[in-house]
Amino acid sequence: MNVLIIGNGGREHALAWKIAQSPRADRVFVAPGNAGTAADAENVDIPSADFGRLIKFAQENQVGLTVVGPEVPLTAGIADAFAAARLRVFGPAKSAAELEGSKVFCKNLLRHADVPTADYRVFRSAERAITFLREREDVPVVVKADGLAAGKGVIVCSGRNEALAAVDRIARAKEFGEAGNQIVIEERLDGQEASVLAISDGQTIVTLPPCQDHKRAFDGDTGPNTGGMGAYCPTPALDDAALRWVEEHVLVPTVHAMKRARRPFRGVLYAGLMLTNQGPKVLEYNVRFGDPECQPLLMRLKSDLLDVLEATIDGKLDSIAPPVWDPRPSVCVVMASEGYPGKYQTGRAIRGLEQAAKVPDVKVFHAGTATAAGQVVSNGGRVLGVTALGSTVAAAKLQAYTAVKAIRWDGAWCRKDISDRAIAAAVGK
Ligand code: AMP
Ligand code: GLY
Repeated sequence: MNVLIIGNGGREHALAWKIAQSPRADRVFVAPGNAGTAADAENVDIPSADFGRLIKFAQENQVGLTVVGPEVPLTAGIADAFAAARLRVFGPAKSAAELEGSKVFCKNLLRHADVPTADYRVFRSAERAITFLREREDVPVVVKADGLAAGKGVIVCSGRNEALAAVDRIARAKEFGEAGNQIVIEERLDGQEASVLAISDGQTIVTLPPCQDHKRAFDGDTGPNTGGMGAYCPTPALDDAALRWVEEHVLVPTVHAMKRARRPFRGVLYAGLMLTNQGPKVLEYNVRFGDPECQPLLMRLKSDLLDVLEATIDGKLDSIAPPVWDPRPSVCVVMASEGYPGKYQTGRAIRGLEQAAKVPDVKVFHAGTATAAGQVVSNGGRVLGVTALGSTVAAAKLQAYTAVKAIRWDGAWCRKDISDRAIAAAVGK
């Protein structure tokens, strides 16, 4: 079977690498892909927003399965467009992708389904939000733009003045455009964050091992928010009992509520959780694999990913064997361009990739890379996701950083403390 993967990040490279290992995969295409997917699969020069050309390509190249990586095409209805053309596609329909596309929809569904989440209010105008903030106690809150804003529409505030400024940015200055037509103001939660991803066919769910992402730019979880500077799997922050609790009180009620709302959820349901003193609470849902969480997850997956993806599309997740995982933990360190998450330069020649690839139990996934004059060059903020397996988290970390040290380009940097929290937890035991 030929497979088409949509997207161009580290997540899509990991998907292409894993799917290409399936004995059932013939040609694996990635649109538009990066320098890494060009090596492990075949790149197709079509942007992910051009549904018409993607559908035509799939039809002309006997593509039996299309896997959508990012949220933007999903919330724009790419799965509906493929399904209407009688093409098999992995990823939720537009109506189900609203779980990520609209924070108001997500929060209302969570409240309705009685899933633990921060208390919140929704506002359609800046004036009402401002009145609310002025009249209530001055406490830490989080102000969120309703729609997609590339992860930037969430402003964590320590008090009223910051919250008023956040409302101004979202609703008056329209910093996030239409995404700011509605505002969510919610209680600020404290605790560790964890990511629990599950695959659902609308009925059955298969929960994947829990991961932890490192969202802040700099060591010690300081600096601005990013798309994610690294991740590891599994995280000791959620033991088996806690994971079952999340399944029962978060994932199952969500999938059922979506079904009742006639928006059956088929795809990856990714719960961003805050582990509070009162138990795990949902910060947000994503409707796709996390980037970079996908990289350490797939590094550990021993089963054929195609079987899982196809069973999801066919509504037969209950009839396949549960996925088998490598017992070894995995760590992914993101190497980024100087300046990220702000402005950065591209086109810098990347050296040492061959040497890094020789480090045992390591895979260097590409994110923002391109090929220019036969050379791999940087082409984005997050450039590589260096991912390693190890007998312990500490061993996996060491292995990943050994590979990182072999790679050089002008302006390359990474966090030095990816997975340290898990290592500290292991030492504390
Ligand atoms: P979201 O896109 O909703 O996950 O928000 C991005 C980040 O903002 C999360 O990963 C958290 O670090 C933070 N955040 C969101 N909501 C809250 C909340 N209610 N309390 C504390 N932090 C939050
Ligand atoms: N790693 C966070 C995300 O994929 O949204």
